[in-house]
Amino acid sequence: MLSSINYSEKIPNNVNLGEDRTLKRALEQWQPNFVNWWDEIGPVGSTDSEVYLRTAVSVDPQGWAQFGHVKMRDYRWGIFLNQGEADRKIHFGDHKGEAAWNDVPGEYRANLRRIIVTQGDTEPASVEQQRHLGLTAPSMYDLRNLYQINVEEGRHLWAMVYLLHKHFGRDGREEGEALLERRSGDDNNPRILGAFNEATPDWLAFFMFTYFTDRDGKFQLCALAESAFEPLARTTKFMLTEEAHHMFVGESGISRVLARTCQVMNELKTDDPAKIRAAGVIDLPTIQRYLNFHFSVTIDLFGADESSNAATFYSSGLKGRYEESKRDDDHQLRGQTYGVLEARNGQLVEKQVPMLNALNEVLRDDYIKDSVAGVGRWNKVMEKNGIPFRLTTPHKAFHRQIGALSGIKVSPDGRVVTDSEWSAMKDQWLATDADRAFVAGLMGRVVDAGKFANWIAPPAMGINRNPVDFDYVRFN
Ligand SMILES: [Fe+2]
Ligand SMILES: [Fe+2]
Repeated sequence: MLSSINYSEKIPNNVNLGEDRTLKRALEQWQPNFVNWWDEIGPVGSTDSEVYLRTAVSVDPQGWAQFGHVKMRDYRWGIFLNQGEADRKIHFGDHKGEAAWNDVPGEYRANLRRIIVTQGDTEPASVEQQRHLGLTAPSMYDLRNLYQINVEEGRHLWAMVYLLHKHFGRDGREEGEALLERRSGDDNNPRILGAFNEATPDWLAFFMFTYFTDRDGKFQLCALAESAFEPLARTTKFMLTEEAHHMFVGESGISRVLARTCQVMNELKTDDPAKIRAAGVIDLPTIQRYLNFHFSVTIDLFGADESSNAATFYSSGLKGRYEESKRDDDHQLRGQTYGVLEARNGQLVEKQVPMLNALNEVLRDDYIKDSVAGVGRWNKVMEKNGIPFRLTTPHKAFHRQIGALSGIKVSPDGRVVTDSEWSAMKDQWLATDADRAFVAGLMGRVVDAGKFANWIAPPAMGINRNPVDFDYVRFN
């Protein structure tokens, strides 16, 4: 049966791996290299810990969330595809109405490989970026959540390597090796995308990353879940169920930081950042500057606002729009236009461009809507505590490194500014070295069950209906 996972095999899977000996052998050769990568660059100091992890044992709602204490290097990284629909039809692009593909059409091979490699590269990158965070976890509960995300990003790498091995032959196997060789932030062999080479040095950055950057993952995966290439669509659908937890960690993490800060502000009756910092919690303007950084770096991940690649990926059926099937248009978009921003005479103006070329911008705008909604939920924390401060997402032209807006300087509220105004203001807009040093100074390991660092409130409830003071990590 397709939906149950065969744990008697070395590599748990629901893809009948045992029937494809060549593929099985290729993956069994890749597996020890993966474990070496994990040992070398995975979470520091975690080897002997038993972690209360969620492991997928099948893809149905009951089976994909089985909990138990396991050592992370023994986690059952496996290959799970959602059940396919019988006779699925391609529902957008030039091939709309034709049968979805179970194999890669020759003419799209290079583009599909590039899409899968780019997605796959982000997965190990984030594990590398987060590898030191366990040393400064604010609680055992948070440490467990970090580790859960790390093992699942490892599994997402497996998911992409499976596609490469299964459908791209020798090229795919070489890409699988290269995915274990690049390193986040490495000068000589960096990860492919910018945000995945930034450091995640502290837990405020981690929560911002999981809120904003894992949400980029959600939107990319949603667009790939529409793909005409059925194995990619089915793989990414299952990955999305795991991604939801990563965003939960970010959203609830920031909420708890805000709750603790508001509590201290009310106790001390002050909004003076210096006094708030002296009390050992993170002042709200610093949180805003972190938010500005992570938001702007993340929206760059969607790529250039006008892109002929984006048009090709869509028209050829490789990558759809977010919620493609819920949109009521012709799903081909020829002759339609979309507004993108450019700077003209010191002002941002919208210009209409062919929509097919603007699909990166379409996805970025959908992402921004989703991000803003969660920031509104964060602001409820301040509202409840009677504190007037509100967090905002910066304008999408702020601090851009990619696309037409990368050549200009724009304030968080969307004004084009001069270089000198930018230089004068940027320390109020983006987290500074001093901010990061202050936050780093707060980070100290607190891992006794039920204890929390001073700068963060406990969560409302534990994992899988366990109490907050449950032993989520057993240190051996
Ligand atoms: Fe992922
Ligand atoms: Fe993720």
